[in-house]
Amino acid sequence: MVAIDGPSGSGKSSTARGVADRLGLAFLDTGAMYRAATWLAVHEGLDLADTDAVAALVRAAVFDIALDPASPTIAVNGHDVTQAIRAPEVSAAVSAVATNLDVRADLVARQRRLIADAPAGVVAEGRDITTVVAPDAHVRVLLVADPAARVARRQAELGTAVDAAAVTDQVIRRDADDSTVAQFHDAAPGVTVVDSTHLDLAQVIEAICELAPGRAGAE
Ligand code: DC
Repeated sequence: MVAIDGPSGSGKSSTARGVADRLGLAFLDTGAMYRAATWLAVHEGLDLADTDAVAALVRAAVFDIALDPASPTIAVNGHDVTQAIRAPEVSAAVSAVATNLDVRADLVARQRRLIADAPAGVVAEGRDITTVVAPDAHVRVLLVADPAARVARRQAELGTAVDAAAVTDQVIRRDADDSTVAQFHDAAPGVTVVDSTHLDLAQVIEAICELAPGRAGAE
């Protein structure tokens, strides 16, 4: 098991997918679960500030998550939301759901079950994998990058039409919001920091694979 945490724009998802592919492990994007929960709450017309209603909706929801690093998909209550969860409206709203402690308890329990049920082992990425979801993971990494590099990556993902100041605001604000429930700016004891500011994707994948001598999937 490989656990990777980091702020938005640190390259966690691409990195975790690449590591899973290289090591023959499954891939779990836990942020996609918070995003799918947010999509569902918005779809159902809930007020996200109504934490009890949102938590009840998420507890009753059926998530269908494909852990294949080649084509990770996610469905909630029968809706394939793989694309929809990347929409700006979901990105803007997701912190309100990710800071709902009852939602977190439910999704963390689901994540632990998914990890336990993956026979070959998993690369899981998020904000609290190294500390809460899988603190016993064989390899634990905090992936960091300078804010300017993270903003540039997010902008490249979103395309040239987006306003740089708006992206900067979104990345920085989301870090601040997310930090209120999951501490992912400093590495917990035993967690290796990998700084991707000056590395390309292949180099980051290599750096993490070097931490997993052969048998990361076995533990
Ligand atoms: O990594 P991402 O941008 O897809 O994450 C979406 C949101 O979910 C973001 O606000 C952080 C939150 N999140 C979290 O609180 N805990 C996780 N394990 C994963 C994501």
